[in-house]
Amino acid sequence: MSANCAYESPEMTKLLGETLRPGGFDLTAKGISWCNWRSDHQLLDLGCGQGATVRYLNDEWGLSAKGIDPSQQLITMARKKGCDEEFMIGRGEAIPFADASFDGVLSECTLSLMDDLDQTLSEVHRVLKNRGYFFITDVYARKPEMLDELKNDPFKSCMRGLYDLDRFKDRLSKRGFQVILAEDHSELLKQLLVKTIFAYGSMNEFWKKTAGNCAAGFQETLKMCKPGYYMMIARKEK
Ligand SMILES: C[S@@+](CC[C@H](N)C(=O)[O-])C[C@H]1O[C@@H](n2cnc3c(N)ncnc32)[C@H](O)[C@@H]1O
Repeated sequence: MSANCAYESPEMTKLLGETLRPGGFDLTAKGISWCNWRSDHQLLDLGCGQGATVRYLNDEWGLSAKGIDPSQQLITMARKKGCDEEFMIGRGEAIPFADASFDGVLSECTLSLMDDLDQTLSEVHRVLKNRGYFFITDVYARKPEMLDELKNDPFKSCMRGLYDLDRFKDRLSKRGFQVILAEDHSELLKQLLVKTIFAYGSMNEFWKKTAGNCAAGFQETLKMCKPGYYMMIARKEK
């Protein structure tokens, strides 16, 4: 079962609600205020899932956002709850919009799922206007020296795509972004872990329910990398 399928699973929605990530809208609200986005700005939610953030940006903040996601099932759910034209099938590696279309791009818990992260960063850079903001929240490895073990695990989930935050910042700057803000929010991942164990008995049980038996043993490998969660804001500089 693929990582995307895990996000289509009803178990995932039962646990997380419509926002398929740790912490709900708390960090999103912080990011919006920080980036100072206005109603005449165009925003893109990369990997929008069920569209919760797009609705939040448009309905609660009066902003103008669109979302793309490769999952037909999640886009159908998003369209049912929102406006048809706000949501499109699309992948981070080939964003279906023209150059300099957006003042801001949000990527909440999705970069770690990209098949080609560098290509995705180039695409975000391409669709952003000059000095546009890239708002990112995602998982990372607090013990990056153990990442090779995880990459070799056959189970594919966003947790397998954990990266080394220092190397990620280098990749951003090589692609013409300046990192303006980086904060650790690992407490949100911890809260989610506790909630999951409370609901399923163990993380292994949860992975098995959402992703099938291929998840067996994954949790042990994952723990070695000490997963954390971060928020970052980067600006397109050149
Ligand atoms: C953890 S969920 C987060 C969804 C949404 N951002 C949210 O916070 O509710 C990850 C999402 O990334 C999407 N995804 C997976 N691969 C992707 C890709 N290559 N490009 C864009 N989105 C992708 C999945 O379909 C899924 O909806």
